Amino acid sequence: MARRKKVYEGKAKILYEGPEPGTLVQYFKDDATAFNAQKKDVIEGKGVLNNRLSEFFMDGLAAIGVPTHFIRRINMREQLIRAVEIIPLEVIVRNRAAGSLAKRLGLEEGTALPRPIVEFCYKDDGLGDPLVTEEHIIAFGWASQQDLDDMIALALRVNDFLSGVMHGVGIKLIDFKIEIGRVWDGDYQRLIVADEISPDSCRLWDVKTGQKLDKDVFRQDLGSLTDAYSEVAKRLGVLPVQA
Ligand code: C5P
Repeated sequence: MARRKKVYEGKAKILYEGPEPGTLVQYFKDDATAFNAQKKDVIEGKGVLNNRLSEFFMDGLAAIGVPTHFIRRINMREQLIRAVEIIPLEVIVRNRAAGSLAKRLGLEEGTALPRPIVEFCYKDDGLGDPLVTEEHIIAFGWASQQDLDDMIALALRVNDFLSGVMHGVGIKLIDFKIEIGRVWDGDYQRLIVADEISPDSCRLWDVKTGQKLDKDVFRQDLGSLTDAYSEVAKRLGVLPVQA
């Protein structure tokens, strides 16, 4: 049997050619990286959990009419997705100060923000994904003004959905990152949620104790990452999974 073709390998995932044109297979690795890959480890079972959790969130978004690249899960580590043209921006939504925002503005972690704040970072590992403004995005042609408006609207809908789902299981959604891709329906372009939504790309704090249940556990050496992600999966009723 012919080996399928690798299209792209990132820090936490690999993309392979899919079975039909316009599709890809997204494979979730166990690799964990932080601080632009200066800190690295292999966390047994992380890929399985993120595959399952991303499926859960993407299915939930589709159910409320938010378009995503997710088609179906294939197995424990792989999912079938729509091929998209990824917009080279990380779209971050913040509800409370944490991470780089807390540092940049000297805010205490956990401070509530006056309203959800959307930020854009230019996707470039060599540069450490720098924060960019809408001016940069338009001037350099990474997205049009219409794309920007659509990306902000999409990101805020994802925020409403994720915040609600998390709140329901006693978890505060502090912030998250999504990536957005273009698909073409004839001459018309649509923007859809791509990549993954998982505790690797969100900050999730237990409402009562403030315990961190996301990748900060790895970044800050706070304990077992798989225990934290399993707790999120358990609360959401996502089936127990084995690596
Ligand atoms: O580090 P920072 O505070 O800017 O991160 C904001 C949010 O975006 C966090 O939830 C973080 O996990 C996520 N993020 C990500 N991938 C990056 C940068 C940030 O998933 N490359």
